[in-house]
Order: sequence, then C-alpha cells, then structure tokens
Amino acid sequence: MTPLLEVEELRVRYGAVEALHGVSFAANAGEVTALIGANGAGKSSTLAAISGVIPARGRIRFDGRDIAGAPPYAIVRAGIVQVPEGREILARMTVEENLLMGLRGRDRSELASAYERFPILRERRALLAGALSGGEQQMLAIARALLARPRLLLLDEPSLGLAPLIVKQVFETLADLKRQGVTMVLVEQNALRALRLADRAYVMDLGRIVMNGTGGELLRDEGVARTYLGG
Ligand SMILES: Nc1ncnc2c1ncn2[C@@H]1O[C@H](COP(=O)(O)OP(=O)(O)OP(=O)(O)O)[C@@H](O)[C@H]1O
Ligand SMILES: [Mg+2]
Repeated sequence: MTPLLEVEELRVRYGAVEALHGVSFAANAGEVTALIGANGAGKSSTLAAISGVIPARGRIRFDGRDIAGAPPYAIVRAGIVQVPEGREILARMTVEENLLMGLRGRDRSELASAYERFPILRERRALLAGALSGGEQQMLAIARALLARPRLLLLDEPSLGLAPLIVKQVFETLADLKRQGVTMVLVEQNALRALRLADRAYVMDLGRIVMNGTGGELLRDEGVARTYLGG
C-alpha cells in the first residue's frame, strides 16, 4: 500500500537555526499516525511545513502528488486540513458561525453531520464560541475541520491544557473518527494516549525522528516508557 502522505528529508529553518534536520515519515490512509516528543522536538514545525504555512526543504507527497512548496490554500484544497489549537476558534462568533466557515460556501444543511457527531454543539449553536468550555472549543475546532471534508486531518496537541476528564473525551472523539476511517496525523505530548490510539508512531527529538514502530511496539519499549510515559 502506498502511504497517503509521504514526508522525506524535511528541513525547516528559522533564521540561522535549523529546527528540522531531515524528517521522514509516512501516514497510511485510514490510520492514525502519531508524532510524539518533548517540547521543541519539532512536531509543530513538521505540521506547519505540511500545511504550507512555513517554508521547508525536502519532499512532501500527498496521494502521489508533490505538494512541497504549495501555498496553504492549495494544500487545504488537496484535502489536508489542520485542526488549530482549541483556542483558535473565533471566540466572538457563534458556534454555528464558526462551523459555517468550515463549509466554505457549501450548503448549510451539511451542518447536520457536525451536530449529529457533536450533539453538544447543536445545543450550544447560538452561543458565542468563547463561552464554551475548553473541551467544547476543541470539539468545535475538530467539527469545523471535518466540515471541510479532509482526506487527512492534522491535529496539533488537541488535549493541551485540558482537564483529565476532558482529555479523555477528546481522545474518545479521536477514536470515533478513527473507527469511521478518518486518516489522522496526531501530534501529542500525552504520549500514552497517543500511542494507544496510533497505528504507527514516530518519536521526535531535537528535529529528528529517532524511533518508530506501531503504537503497541512503542508502548512496550523501555526507553520510550522511561522518557515519554513517566515510568
Ligand atoms: N517561529 C519560530 N522562530 C524561531 N524558532 C522557532 C519558531 N518556532 C519554533 N522554533 C524552534 O524550533 C524548534 C522546534 O519547535 P516546534 O514548535 O516545532 O516543536 P514542538 O515539538 O512542537 O514543541 P512543543 O511541544 O513545545 O509544541 C524549537 O527549538 C523552537 O524553539
Ligand atoms: Mg508544538
């Protein structure tokens, strides 16, 4: 099977400092691919390079097409949609107005799919998005991204800053999406939950991939356990 996304020798620099030193990984259709690693490892830079919002060297192939260097709107049009961090929803617009942006002009009847998936958003649809809890805002961000009909969903730390119970809910949402066949690249510092969900996972350190395996393999790895799972 050819991977849906293939990243080869990705290099990113900020000014004089190179932050990614040749990152290579692949994501298969229908699978969850996790990138884990400590602060500053280069996880967000990797997603930003794929989304086209920062310049990068190297090769990025999506569905067999070379998309490296393409502008962000073209990447979205190709089907790669990044879920911004929860707090990047438009706080002074209503929940429904936020969702409508995901439709990008398609008929608003399609909002029904988002409300079926997230009934809480239907209940809260007339509220300002800024009035939602952190977990609800994260769901709104995911729902909006899904309305753009992604073929690949990029998620950067969807559980960041959320209370443990809410983190659990967010990961249950991601598990649902996985069961529905949504292809995801998931960046997380919550390595335990990310590895449990992931089909394949890559460990990043200081701008490099230092290890990869199935989620299960990395969960059983002593070095990974010591460094990233707190035991
Ligand atoms: N805009 C920027 N300008 C300069 N350096 C940056 C910029 N963004 C990131 N960096 C640096 O690039 C490296 C990788 O950062 P990146 O944010 O990609 O890591 P990360 O794995 O997402 O970290 P975190 O877990 O903290 O989100 C770090 O050394 C960081 O300081
Ligand atoms: Mg980051």
